[in-house]
Amino acid sequence: MSIIEQINSETVTQVDFKILFPEVGLDLGQDEEWCEIMVGTARRRIRFHDYRDIYDIPGLYERLFYDKLKCVSPRVIRTQLAQVLAERETEPAELRVLDVGAGNGIVGEELRELGAGAVFGIDIIEEAAAAAHRDRPGVYDQYLVADLTDLAPDQRDTLVEADLNTLTTVAALGFDDVPPQAFAAAYNLISTPGLAAFTIKEDFVTARDASGFSELIRRMFAGEVICPLARQRYRHRLSVQGEPLYYVAFVAEKFGDIPSDWLD
Ligand SMILES: C[S@@+](CC[C@H](N)C(=O)[O-])C[C@H]1O[C@@H](n2cnc3c(N)ncnc32)[C@H](O)[C@@H]1O
Repeated sequence: MSIIEQINSETVTQVDFKILFPEVGLDLGQDEEWCEIMVGTARRRIRFHDYRDIYDIPGLYERLFYDKLKCVSPRVIRTQLAQVLAERETEPAELRVLDVGAGNGIVGEELRELGAGAVFGIDIIEEAAAAAHRDRPGVYDQYLVADLTDLAPDQRDTLVEADLNTLTTVAALGFDDVPPQAFAAAYNLISTPGLAAFTIKEDFVTARDASGFSELIRRMFAGEVICPLARQRYRHRLSVQGEPLYYVAFVAEKFGDIPSDWLD
């Protein structure tokens, strides 16, 4: 029986697992980080970007990123969004949100607590949707497993009929996660005017990076596609070596769609 099967099997649901980090001094990039899960004497290595494996183990995502590595991004974006809404005298209930890279629903839960009127989730892997339904049932009005750059007609219809006016995407842009093309497709599904609230690693906006985000975001702000309402640099989480990883959180007003030729 694999460790994941063991943890999920009825006989050992009460059995706890330990999380072990790599030895100090191992120089791992953020997209190379891993931990080991230990159940009894059995160990299994899991890369942080192997979300399928992480979501399959109930509680692992929260223990790993929130308890051990002190991730604060969903709370930061909720607080920033709440401040912007208060300044604009907009009721949270007016928000009809598309949460991109929704994972197991932590951002959706924050949005519900904020009072959002509707929350739709989208993620590219089945395991994320399954974990959201398992861990936070009812948080999303609907949760789609889909590739935003290749939506099936019924998926597109669902999102158009949802009458979305706000985009959120937290800790999901860049690396091998949501690419600029998928971000643009989601952004263009939001009404104009609308709101976009997202977090992104600071290197992806302040430096020339290979992900394409720094160029896209620069053009969006310069081209009056979007207007920043709030911007905050903050510590997203710690690395496995205990170093701070800085991100930038934006809440911005949408003024227009991202032209498709910007993504060529
Ligand atoms: C670090 S997790 C963040 C999850 C959640 N936003 C949170 O803050 O807890 C990144 C998520 O992005 C999803 N993802 C990666 N590429 C994607 C894509 N092209 N479209 C939608 N979701 C994607 C992953 O499956 C994963 O669930």
